[in-house]
Amino acid sequence: MMKTTDISAVSAKNSQAIVASLNQLLADYHLYYQNLRGFHWNISGPSFFELHRQFELMYTEAQVVIDNIAERILTLGGQPLHTMTDYLAHASIKEAKGLMDAESTVKTVHENLGLLLSMERGIVSLASKSDDEATVDMLTPLISAQEKVAWMLRAFNGKKK
Ligand SMILES: [Fe+2]
Repeated sequence: MMKTTDISAVSAKNSQAIVASLNQLLADYHLYYQNLRGFHWNISGPSFFELHRQFELMYTEAQVVIDNIAERILTLGGQPLHTMTDYLAHASIKEAKGLMDAESTVKTVHENLGLLLSMERGIVSLASKSDDEATVDMLTPLISAQEKVAWMLRAFNGKKK
């Protein structure tokens, strides 16, 4: 009999755990995305032009990441969450409502990023223990980019940490 090649290096048990944590991340990403959309629309004040544009840049980037996470879930044999009900039930990021000023919107984006980052670090650790290099590869550049954005947001609000 021909020997079959195992495409996935990740065991079924490990991939289920990775899928579950990626679905959690996917849910939080949607909350993060929608918060950014709201801030893009509602921002007002002297930083309007700057932040209106910045939030658009961030949600446009988030859209690409969302698709990558969902398709990684499918690649691992899972099903991505795709309803608002599921996103709200699974996400730890809260819906931001009615924020309009620069300081609170930037602070909220920074906090949301902190949650995404801690989740991503957890998934990288789980994925590397499970020999899932592709998930590690997807998340590692994201982590360094987000850490940089987090620094910029702190700098915008005049904060060191
Ligand atoms: Fe717009």
